[in-house]
Amino acid sequence: MEEVKRVSAEIQLSRNQPIKISGNFNVVGIDGNILNTDFNKEVYLCACGKSKIKPFCDGSHKG
Ligand code: FES
Repeated sequence: MEEVKRVSAEIQLSRNQPIKISGNFNVVGIDGNILNTDFNKEVYLCACGKSKIKPFCDGSHKG
C-alpha cells in the first residue's frame, strides 16, 4: 500500500532574500517532475532572478 503524504508548508518571505519553504511538500517543475528530493525538508527559491539553478537559490543574490 502506498503511503499517503500530507502536504503542509510554511512560506517565508524576506526582503532581498530567497523564498524559504519548509515543511512537507514537493516542488513541481513546469514539466510536471518533482524537483526536490526530500518530501520533508526546506528549500530556498530564487526571488532575484540571478540564480543559475532556478527555481532554487544559488546564493547569487548576495553578489
Ligand atoms: S534569491 Fe538567491 S540567487 Fe536569487
